[in-house]
Amino acid sequence: MRKRRARELTKRWLLLVLVCGSFLFAFLYPLPETKSSVHTVVILTVGNDRKLDDLHRLARDTVFSNTRSARISAQVLVYEGKFRPWFNTSTADDATVVQASREVERLRYGSHSFELFSGIYGASVKPRALRWLTQPDQAWIDFGWIIEPDVVFTGSWQTLFEKYESDSSDLIAFNTTFRYSNKTAWNHWPSCTYCRGLPNWCKQSALLPAFRISRNFAAAAVAHLSTSTRSSGHHEAFLPTFLTVNSDTFSFRDLGPDVAYMRWRPAFDFDAVPRLAPIRRDALYHPVKSLEMYRNLSQASLEA
Ligand SMILES: *[C@@H]1O[C@H](CO)[C@@H](O)[C@H](O)[C@H]1NC(C)=O
Ligand SMILES: *[C@@H]1O[C@H](CO)[C@@H](O)[C@H](O)[C@H]1NC(C)=O
Ligand SMILES: *[C@@H]1O[C@H](CO)[C@@H](O)[C@H](O)[C@H]1NC(C)=O
Ligand SMILES: *[C@@H]1O[C@H](CO)[C@@H](O)[C@H](O)[C@H]1NC(C)=O
Repeated sequence: MRKRRARELTKRWLLLVLVCGSFLFAFLYPLPETKSSVHTVVILTVGNDRKLDDLHRLARDTVFSNTRSARISAQVLVYEGKFRPWFNTSTADDATVVQASREVERLRYGSHSFELFSGIYGASVKPRALRWLTQPDQAWIDFGWIIEPDVVFTGSWQTLFEKYESDSSDLIAFNTTFRYSNKTAWNHWPSCTYCRGLPNWCKQSALLPAFRISRNFAAAAVAHLSTSTRSSGHHEAFLPTFLTVNSDTFSFRDLGPDVAYMRWRPAFDFDAVPRLAPIRRDALYHPVKSLEMYRNLSQASLEA
């Protein structure tokens, strides 16, 4: 009898020591995830227009500068055409360089999906950027900012990245659905085979020279496009429309408040666009096609 009681007591003590010990251990060695659990990367997409190389190089240095302290976990440059040494020889940062090719993307997406999705110039950098994001090696990433080199942010890009750091939207993009006009007849919609038969309210458009996308949403979009042979659309029609159709799963936030000038054309230039309004600080301008204009806009933010 006594022996059994003694054994019971020992068991209870052991249990108590075990429970207290685990608490103490958890207190002394907290899991590393508690520090920062959201991982965001910045992806710059560089086309093959060598005449714009100086501009693109300036954009690269500007967009990639100081991003590390803004909890940007990686900097990626996706390019089409010939490799240029300036892609990754800067000592100030270390960028991952990814090559994009029209032949490969056409194969991966299928030709119907690729031709519509890539847009009127057939560029492969954005389809490649999205596909890179969804690869198994990149499973640790939550969000990617995808940026063209002809976009100026009049301030530190870090300000923009930090603004949306705790926002979990799957797509943060400039909503142009009814922004400039009633776009129900927008030329990308009749050609959007995915949009056919959808109610009009689902048909959305967004200008995408700079946007943030979640890896989950990118994966769903890439999966749809690469498995269907007749359901695609220009990326600026397809992505916001596909999201709206699946809005029980994914969310869309308008980047409008951060945009000062964003159009397809004309390019932002003091000649083409009279200086009607003062340059806005911490705002996006697109397209900027000259080195001088890029510099002036970037510097304007310092003076303002
Ligand atoms: C730059 O990128 C190229 C192509 O990806 C690679 O071969 C080279 O090693 C890289 N250089 C540095 C300094 O990272
Ligand atoms: C846009 O135009 C279409 C076709 O003319 C019309 O049916 C629709 O009501 C318009 N929408 C808005 C918001 O003006
Ligand atoms: C985008 O704009 C359309 C048209 O005004 C609107 O219906 C839609 O809710 C907007 N979406 C977002 C996320 O702002
Ligand atoms: C850029 O700024 C300089 C100096 O302020 C000015 O002389 C030049 O005209 C500006 N260029 C453009 C394209 O506005």
